[in-house]
Amino acid sequence: MSIVVRKVSGLKVKMCRVACLLALVVLVSPAADALDNGLALKPTMGWLHWERFMCNIDCERDPNNCISERLYMQMADVMAKEGWKEAGYEYVCIDDCWPSRQRDAQGRLQADPKRFPAGIKKLADYVHSKGLKLGIYADVGKKTCAGYPGSLGYYETDAQTFADWDVDLLKFDGCNMDWTLLGEGYVNMSKALNKTGRSILYSCEWPLYEWPFQKPNYTAIREACNHWRNYADVYDSWSSVKSIVEWTASHQDVIVPSAGPGGWNDPDMLVIGNFGLSHAQQESQMALWAIMAAPLLVSNDLRDICPRSKELLQNRHIIAISQDPLGKQGYRTAKVDNFEAWERPLSQKRLAIAVLNLMEIGGPRGFFLRAVPGWKICDPQCNVTQILPQYQELGVQTPHTRVVVSVNPSGTALLTVTPISGDATELNKLSWEDASVKRRRIIL
Ligand code: GLA
Repeated sequence: MSIVVRKVSGLKVKMCRVACLLALVVLVSPAADALDNGLALKPTMGWLHWERFMCNIDCERDPNNCISERLYMQMADVMAKEGWKEAGYEYVCIDDCWPSRQRDAQGRLQADPKRFPAGIKKLADYVHSKGLKLGIYADVGKKTCAGYPGSLGYYETDAQTFADWDVDLLKFDGCNMDWTLLGEGYVNMSKALNKTGRSILYSCEWPLYEWPFQKPNYTAIREACNHWRNYADVYDSWSSVKSIVEWTASHQDVIVPSAGPGGWNDPDMLVIGNFGLSHAQQESQMALWAIMAAPLLVSNDLRDICPRSKELLQNRHIIAISQDPLGKQGYRTAKVDNFEAWERPLSQKRLAIAVLNLMEIGGPRGFFLRAVPGWKICDPQCNVTQILPQYQELGVQTPHTRVVVSVNPSGTALLTVTPISGDATELNKLSWEDASVKRRRIIL
């Protein structure tokens, strides 16, 4: 991989040739065929219990936080009442540790009777009555990661059980499975879900469990799943979020082309509103998950969240980037002076730009926007809106204007750029795809 070092705006910018080539590929080739179930045309939004509530099954000592029907009903109540549903958060998702240790006499999964006395069907009815959808969790292998019954040998039975319960999403984990059978297992469950006739969004972890052995086949994964985890579980810490961002960037040539309407790379849950991230770090996670076209599955306690985190998670400008109808995943385009620039092509020829400040010492640092490769979109003119760290119209810019954004330590500045076509320059006569290719050629 060769690195091009170039002087732009007085800054030495290291641009990966790979990133630029990737931009070409992403801009000219549509994603491969997606799972054809009509779901996840935009990245999924909702709430998922795992990172915050894990496998807490002690309802006697901790009734408020244990994995029980009450928890999901309360989350659904808050989601319907406190602006989450309006903001686009739709799925209330159960993770591991919900089932009974034994299947029933007919071999079907059953919810733990003490913690889910009314059963999953009633819970689904309740969640639906709030205008929301219910997600559930199972595993492709013999047992779930926490040791509950797995679906191996029961794919059709379990898919039918979930459909009978009116479940809307299945997160299918990959623990306790011979890795050579992962592909077959994930595809068979996809077919079993399809056979039920119910629309059930299918969230996979197939590539995560395959990477240690071989490079996953993302064409096959996209044909079977609506989203797929690639990398380790997120923790409530900046080092965890940073490692996910770095893994994503360093594998972007492999994973970005497979994302698009119907199928998305899943970098795991948003941990915003918990304990481990500073506000600037929470802004970074939100901005980068939007740029990465990631599912926005929040794992926190919606009943008790600080107003600033809530406002960030419900920020309509960031959500609009996440849910942009063009459905292209963004990618890292430059690394310079402990900054990273990320870009995501948006509909109507717009571009989202995120500038991440990786320094964890000192104060806010200024970044010259025209140092990012995407600034070419401002030829001859563009209109720039800053969304993070605060909303600000930055107005009309040109290739030569010196706009400096201030980025907090481990924070991110997020912007959208709208091209203004002036007198027909050569680029403006071209279609967006052609013009983008040409712009990127200029910087190669
Ligand atoms: C795995 C998954 C997590 C979570 C746990 C549950 O680690 O990657 O997201 O579902 O299992 O046991």
